[in-house]
Amino acid sequence: MGAPAEVELRERIGGHPLWYHTLELAPGVLTPGWFDLRPIVGRLPWPDVRGKRCLDVGTYDGFLAFELERRGAREVIATDIGDERAWDWPPDMRGTGPTKLTELVSGERARGFEIAHDALGSSVRRLECSVYDLSPETVGRFDVVVCGSLLLHLRDPQRALEAIHGVCDQALLSAEEVRLGLSALHPRRPLAELNGSGELLQWWVPNSAGHRRMLFAAGFEVLRATRPYAVPFGVGHPGPNDLGARLRLWRRRLVLGHAGVPHAAALARPRL
Ligand SMILES: C[S@@+](CC[C@H](N)C(=O)[O-])C[C@H]1O[C@@H](n2cnc3c(N)ncnc32)[C@H](O)[C@@H]1O
Repeated sequence: MGAPAEVELRERIGGHPLWYHTLELAPGVLTPGWFDLRPIVGRLPWPDVRGKRCLDVGTYDGFLAFELERRGAREVIATDIGDERAWDWPPDMRGTGPTKLTELVSGERARGFEIAHDALGSSVRRLECSVYDLSPETVGRFDVVVCGSLLLHLRDPQRALEAIHGVCDQALLSAEEVRLGLSALHPRRPLAELNGSGELLQWWVPNSAGHRRMLFAAGFEVLRATRPYAVPFGVGHPGPNDLGARLRLWRRRLVLGHAGVPHAAALARPRL
């Protein structure tokens, strides 16, 4: 990339108010994301996606969709809801949550994906579609589906997984936030913590066994699963804002090796 093109790209990146993903859009040119999936992406239990039709559900800036493309997928569709008012806000945040977020990102949440898509020369197609509305009629069928850090933000994650099941022919890679303490204390017992309140927009956060059971209960068979790992914060993340959050970070740093949000990933296939 020539110098003027790089300057222009850096300006476009700097002009976007909120990057969720750290993405390398040209050699050494990074977006200031809240989360940096680059150190952990190779640890996910990827299926072979070469030549396959793939779907990334809840793509945000598109990190996982671009990774599918990089891994040789024939076609990649990335779905998301651009309008945060349509998210599953807990009742106590329905009034203020979307407004706060819209102020923060100036109503341009899909813009990050567009900037990245242009810079990478990507062929991924982004569609506005709630996970609940995925069906063979709306999006077709896919060999491989990827879904990351979405289920905890849904009031009805099982309905969402059943919709994913309805369009998934071969493999689902599911990477979700998990509760570390519940995972360590109950390695085999499927459990989940209910939140359902507040601006983090969190509903159910399972332990690792709970995550696997959610997939099973939606008609999948889990083939492989990772141990808990941390999704690292990117340079754009605002960081913990109170003592409790800072202490939790230090505990995670001790258990998982570095700071970030505890996740577990599983590779599954439709069994029903
Ligand atoms: C925490 S981000 C995860 C981004 C990305 N999948 C990853 O793993 O890094 C959650 C994403 O899910 C999207 N989302 C929220 N509710 C959704 C819904 N009902 N259907 C589809 N996507 C949704 C959000 O817009 C956002 O892009």
